[in-house]
Amino acid sequence: MRLFIDTGSVAEVQEIAAWGILAGATTNPSLLAKEDGDPGEIIRRICDLVGGPVSAEVVSSDPEGMIAEGRALRELHEHVTVKVPFCKEGLAAAHALTSEGISVNMTLVFSANQALLAAGAGVTYVSCFMGRLDDISVDSGQVVAEIVECFRAGGVTSQIIAASVRHPEHVIAAAQLGCEIATVPAKVLHQMLEHPLTTAGAERFRKDWESRPEFGDWLQSLVSKRVGATRG
Ligand code: E4P
Repeated sequence: MRLFIDTGSVAEVQEIAAWGILAGATTNPSLLAKEDGDPGEIIRRICDLVGGPVSAEVVSSDPEGMIAEGRALRELHEHVTVKVPFCKEGLAAAHALTSEGISVNMTLVFSANQALLAAGAGVTYVSCFMGRLDDISVDSGQVVAEIVECFRAGGVTSQIIAASVRHPEHVIAAAQLGCEIATVPAKVLHQMLEHPLTTAGAERFRKDWESRPEFGDWLQSLVSKRVGATRG
């Protein structure tokens, strides 16, 4: 499963992209509204940083408006994927945009039926919102499993994005269920790093190594010799 970052913050993308784990990013109007600066510039900078698909969302409610916004957003950067909210107008817009060769991420999908309609319109990505399903006491794992099963059974090629990810367990569930992508907030990506045994283990290795000061000198001289050889 590939990992995207779900954010409107260039600083967050900059930090996490340095880990080398990002395959793309998703933004939405709420995330961008929290940021200072021109949204177009933010989207372009995120595109440059992740070097993969970056979803930018339309906000019109009629197909013509969505299509016009989608075409304009796509022109911001070659990596832009146009995010279109699920509704019948969104389906029409998604179909028109995909027919022009524009990659579409259909967002706000909460059921297998909606996912099948989105796939029928030809979208590249279908975003199922796990956290918001859990918020209304619907088992998000069950819904994602249904979508995966329906897509695999019918040979659907649209990729499933696990979205509205609230904790690391959502990421594991998405991977186990067969989602192609999880789009994950920076906070959860940070939580995914943590394990007490990793912290304790690293501390133990460091202390044991430092108990033999000559080992530190040896490693330093090994590094210096190599640097000297590559310079010479
Ligand atoms: C997906 O692309 C959305 O941007 C996002 O995952 C929404 O998450 P939320 O429910 O935490 O707002």
